[in-house]
Amino acid sequence: MKKDEAAPETRLIHTRADRLGRVTVNPPVERASTVLFRDEAGLYGAKPTYGRMGLTVHRELEAAMGELEGATHTRLAGNGLQACALAIASVVSSGDHLLFSDSIYGPTARFCERRLKAMGIEAERFDPRSGGEIATLFRANTKAVFLEAPGSLTFEITDTPAIVAAASQRGIRTILDNTWGAGLLHQPLALGVDICVQALTKYAVGHADAFGGAVMTRSSGLYTRIAAASEDWGITLAPDDAYLALRGLRSLHTRLKAHEAAGLDMAHWLAARPEVADVLHPGLPGSPDHELWQRDFTGSNGLFSIILNPVPEGGLERFFAALSLFSLGFSWGGFESLIIPCDQQLERMKGSWTDTRAGPLLRLHIGLEATRDLKADLEAGFKALAKA
Ligand SMILES: Cc1ncc(COP(=O)(O)O)c(C=O)c1O
Repeated sequence: MKKDEAAPETRLIHTRADRLGRVTVNPPVERASTVLFRDEAGLYGAKPTYGRMGLTVHRELEAAMGELEGATHTRLAGNGLQACALAIASVVSSGDHLLFSDSIYGPTARFCERRLKAMGIEAERFDPRSGGEIATLFRANTKAVFLEAPGSLTFEITDTPAIVAAASQRGIRTILDNTWGAGLLHQPLALGVDICVQALTKYAVGHADAFGGAVMTRSSGLYTRIAAASEDWGITLAPDDAYLALRGLRSLHTRLKAHEAAGLDMAHWLAARPEVADVLHPGLPGSPDHELWQRDFTGSNGLFSIILNPVPEGGLERFFAALSLFSLGFSWGGFESLIIPCDQQLERMKGSWTDTRAGPLLRLHIGLEATRDLKADLEAGFKALAKA
């Protein structure tokens, strides 16, 4: 069978580098800083010359990520935030202007507003729902637009093709954080995005036990800039973490299907609860970006938010204390269900997100438990919340 005729899940499993003549299914994990050479010619002629450049497991993870995202070039990073920073800093320099979508992951927004500013680069937020209207914000020195779809915490879907069309007309680069889409639910490079980023820490690793980041592109010119920035900053991914990310990728398709089914089941159930004012999940018919999601995504996962109706004094504390399956934790993409209150970290520019919330905003990650049990857990929480 021709490789490019195979389904994404098949291709993701058959990225093994059999060219190496290896007999094991998985690559060796070389824990190495020093790489040894027989002679001076080797020392200065071969690559990699040093463990920081990555060894076998890194090359295999790069190949798998390239396959997943339809990229020709992949650069790994120590975590997702580092991958976002690397992608951005590869395309902007002092005196430039960058636009970033208002609902990107908070620490990425902080990188734009604090670190880029210190480097003489102006970073400006834009409304994730502005589509092609973004062109009105372009300046002579605008060099890049950073997107994340759906947005963190509030789950807006950007009209990425419209933004890409407006930006590319002006030679402005587009970057998209595809951690939610994980490469299987969304293919930004196929939509014309220049650089795609993923936090492997989430669904790729899938077990909440390792970090990783990846930057992918189809442009060799852009890759040269990304690789140079990565070398200059000494960006690297620990071999054990690279191994765990690669291992996670092999079951990504199956896990995502389970997260999607459970996520939708829980989202529908929550939408019918009297305690819930709104469910922020682009896969739900009637949600504001449902049509864009249907057009540009092939599915959803276990991550979405809810807005509660106003809660009585101390209600939220009682709600969290009554939960035994949902844990409070700042991550997602693992096998376990998590929940966080988001109000303390909801930083949105005025007017971008119509903040007419009835009550607190909570983000849920639906893990691989039975949804029957997860519903019982939340039901116990809701009961405690209502208690005076
Ligand atoms: C959308 C998104 N991008 C990037 C990151 C950063 O990933 P990491 O924790 O690996 O730095 C996160 C982490 O939650 C995220 O949610």
